Amino acid sequence: MHEESSPYRTHLLICTNEQGCGQKKSALFCKNLKEKAREIYGKSVRVNQSGCLGQCKKEVVACLYPQNRWFVNLKMNEEEEARLLSYLGEDLGEKTHGEELQLR
Ligand code: FES
Repeated sequence: MHEESSPYRTHLLICTNEQGCGQKKSALFCKNLKEKAREIYGKSVRVNQSGCLGQCKKEVVACLYPQNRWFVNLKMNEEEEARLLSYLGEDLGEKTHGEELQLR
């Protein structure tokens, strides 16, 4: 094994555990967010489904790295999607579509 730096500027993990957060349709939310993030930011960001993140009582849970930001009680709606897209673009150093969405 050897260590490498992350190939992504930022990486969002969304819990889709079927016994917890996944019961609130977080897998579909994650899939849609992943497609939009790829469309807006290209390959510099990554959105992935995750297993249980250990904060089940706060479902739905997501975490963003390397910012080390955690999001809990996520609602599976367009406002939360826009907010997460904005967070994904925060460190990319330019005005992003995500920021525009957040302002609505
Ligand atoms: S099931 Fe989502 S954090 Fe545990």
